[in-house]
Amino acid sequence: MTERYDLIIHGGRVAAQGGIVDADIGVAGGKVSALGDFSTAEAPARFDATGLHVLSGVIDTQVHFREPGLEHKEDLASGTAGAVLGGVTSIFEMPNTNPSTLTAEDLADKLARARGRAWCDHAFFMGAAETNAGDLARLERLPGCAGVKVFMGSSTGSLLVDDDKVLRAVLENGSRRVAIHSEDESRLRERRPLVEVDGATVHLHPEWRDVETALLSTRRLLALATETGRQVHVLHVTTAEEMEVLAKHRDIATVEVTPQHLTLAAPDCYDRLGTLAQMNPPIREARHREALWQAVADGLVDVVGSDHAPHTLEEKARPYPESPAGMTGVQTLLPLLLDHMNAGRLSLERLIDLTSAGAARLYGIDGKGSIAPGFDADFTLVDLKAERTIGNDWIASKAGWTPFDGMAVKGWPSATIIRGHVVMREDEIQGDPRGEPVRFRENP
Ligand code: DOR
Repeated sequence: MTERYDLIIHGGRVAAQGGIVDADIGVAGGKVSALGDFSTAEAPARFDATGLHVLSGVIDTQVHFREPGLEHKEDLASGTAGAVLGGVTSIFEMPNTNPSTLTAEDLADKLARARGRAWCDHAFFMGAAETNAGDLARLERLPGCAGVKVFMGSSTGSLLVDDDKVLRAVLENGSRRVAIHSEDESRLRERRPLVEVDGATVHLHPEWRDVETALLSTRRLLALATETGRQVHVLHVTTAEEMEVLAKHRDIATVEVTPQHLTLAAPDCYDRLGTLAQMNPPIREARHREALWQAVADGLVDVVGSDHAPHTLEEKARPYPESPAGMTGVQTLLPLLLDHMNAGRLSLERLIDLTSAGAARLYGIDGKGSIAPGFDADFTLVDLKAERTIGNDWIASKAGWTPFDGMAVKGWPSATIIRGHVVMREDEIQGDPRGEPVRFRENP
């Protein structure tokens, strides 16, 4: 029997069926139809993946795309353009825009803005605040919502849940996994004078927002999550000490790390990059970076998210601590991880889980995170051997820079395919922006 496919991807090494297989992929109706030998099958389009690995589409579960309100830094078109250039097929966007995403109307506005402008699939987080805590069980289930995001410590924007009463109310209202920025606000306030001194430099950033700031907050969070029985996802974990505690709370908490915390270390990053390396929670000394890698190896880390948080170079040039925290990352997430893989720091299997299957598992994503019949035809095609140099001129973000400018890497995204549409090939975006909302199993 000869099936008819819309697209056949042939000749690639495919990450499927629990390993790497030599197979063609038949795509029909935007979904994977079958894997096999389709050398004689008919299809109006064929993609030659000879020499490439076909991975399940990369899902970046932490990006800040700044629309509405901060479009001079980024918008949904430029942010998602960067995503697909970096091999990312879906993104979850954070609520610290202006206005913050706090209501059904705010979410509907973001979804409407993304329609016809977003290059990749997308979902938006609902911010948690005292004002909407009682309504979160309803809000988190709206189509296109990735779940609830809590800032326990203040960062860019005004979102903040800094007392345990409100945090408890947030955790008691709803059932989906809650994503958490974990830094203790009262300790941050207490220690702020450390950086309010003449001649302060960004080297003080990890001292102000120290290990204890992160650890205290994560301890408080885990106690409340255990008490309320609510699953939490701790974003961008940065300390060896938190990893130790998190390892004892696998029942209730999942863990994200970022490529920048896995790649950079203090004080070198501040010497070289100044405020470009400033982010929250901070890049810390090498011993923490080693602990994050150990946690990756131990299976404690569930996902890698980029925390793509663009600010313009002009904003970054303000004297510390007025300089804003955050760096671009959605486009460099995969190249950096491929480079780490080639350096022997993680296996391809682990990389795939951290960038795709893990996200699908954690957030209950429907039809993504695996290359198998019935799943969306989302693929990230990579050349594991390509040697390239990351450069600012490749970055699509309106911010226009990456802290990894000039870094030579091995491993590169060659193409991005979303629901059967080739949207990036050889560093060129093609077609039209057809991103759609990600679907979740918990949604009605
Ligand atoms: O460095 C950061 N920047 N950390 C955050 O949590 C927020 C982000 C931003 O939105 O700029």
